[in-house]
Amino acid sequence: MVTKKRFANNNLYICSMKSPFLFGRSVSTEGFTNRKKEIKRLKNNFQHGVNTLLISPRRWGKSSLVKRVIQEVSTKKLRIVQLDLLGLQDEAEFYKVLATATIKATSSKFEEWVAASKEFFKQLTPKISLGPDPIHDFEIGFDWQELERNYQEVLNLPERIAQNKGIQLVVCIDEFQNLTNFRNPLLFQKRLRSEWQHHQRVCYCLYGSQQHMMMSLFERQSMPFYKFGDVMYLNKIGRAEWVSFIVSAFDSTGKRINDTLADYIAALVQDHSYYVQQLSHMVWISTEKIVTQLIVDEALENLLEQNSILYMRDTESLSGSQLAYLKALADGVSSGLSSKVVIDNYRLGSSATVAKAKKALLNKELIEVRNNQSYFLDPMYELWFQRFVQR
Ligand SMILES: Nc1ncnc2c1ncn2[C@@H]1O[C@H](COP(=O)(O)OP(=O)(O)OP(=O)(O)O)[C@@H](O)[C@H]1O
Ligand SMILES: [Mg+2]
Repeated sequence: MVTKKRFANNNLYICSMKSPFLFGRSVSTEGFTNRKKEIKRLKNNFQHGVNTLLISPRRWGKSSLVKRVIQEVSTKKLRIVQLDLLGLQDEAEFYKVLATATIKATSSKFEEWVAASKEFFKQLTPKISLGPDPIHDFEIGFDWQELERNYQEVLNLPERIAQNKGIQLVVCIDEFQNLTNFRNPLLFQKRLRSEWQHHQRVCYCLYGSQQHMMMSLFERQSMPFYKFGDVMYLNKIGRAEWVSFIVSAFDSTGKRINDTLADYIAALVQDHSYYVQQLSHMVWISTEKIVTQLIVDEALENLLEQNSILYMRDTESLSGSQLAYLKALADGVSSGLSSKVVIDNYRLGSSATVAKAKKALLNKELIEVRNNQSYFLDPMYELWFQRFVQR
């Protein structure tokens, strides 16, 4: 039985039914749509031991895709080791996390963990610490000086365990671009590559955002991970997919939206995965039975308002030329920003100033560059900018 109540001052309905739209965490079954080709390609890579480098701008769906594929491929013979570099401070922490995750993924019982930690380390002396729940809270640590001399032992741990147990492993590392925060990122990458390239039973899936940074790790010939594996650029989910996803999600919860309005929602946020889900969710909670354009427009206003403090702060931190660059983008100029006409129109100074502004905006993750054209990275910010920044 669905209970609902209309608030006096706004359009929100308290509804006991759960929203079919999910955002803010990765999705893999519920709330997951399409990606059929990408699932197939990644699945093939995992099953055939091909390394993958997966890149996309923020919140397009990398973690969700990998999570989905992991669910589809993992078996006793094909195990997945998952790590996330977010928040890892240095190389030493990476080794600790890699060793712990590898042992956890390949042994099921506490006794096996301890035995594995002893069996597979010859030079290093692992320190095992247990949390309140020893079945799940278990961590391996090392002495940093010992590690400096014998880090290879940790890097080769997945391969040794896989050989010993006659299994295949896929090591998935999320937010891979964060290694650039380590003290000597280049040396670290060289260390990884030189060990990993010999692995037979283990393949690696490295993924992350900050597209320009990820690309610089994999695309430059001088970089250790150049030609390490299959480079996948994740695209946006197509409009038609979004429309049918939105329409059937409303349907399944007893509410209605027509194709035109579902298309309108996806178009407003330029098919950006996170925002399609978020805006659809806002529309869903404001709808009693049938979605109207007014409901969508109000939901959008709401979202813009929710984000406006953040957007104001981002905008205030811009230099004059960065602001001018974004103004040009907001007006629809995506290429030829260094041309004389654009420079004159937006008082951008010189082509060197344009290049500098572009680099700074990339570093601030406010823009992305695809096929030599610049775009706002966040479609909601673009909408906000178009509305509220004087041009
Ligand atoms: N295949 C999908 N179907 C439907 N929605 C999706 C899909 N993939 C992602 N999303 C939506 O986009 C949001 C962001 O997805 P996810 O966290 O996987 O992206 P990401 O690229 O890993 O992001 P980040 O760059 O922040 O790590 C999800 O919370 C979900 O709302
Ligand atoms: Mg992610």
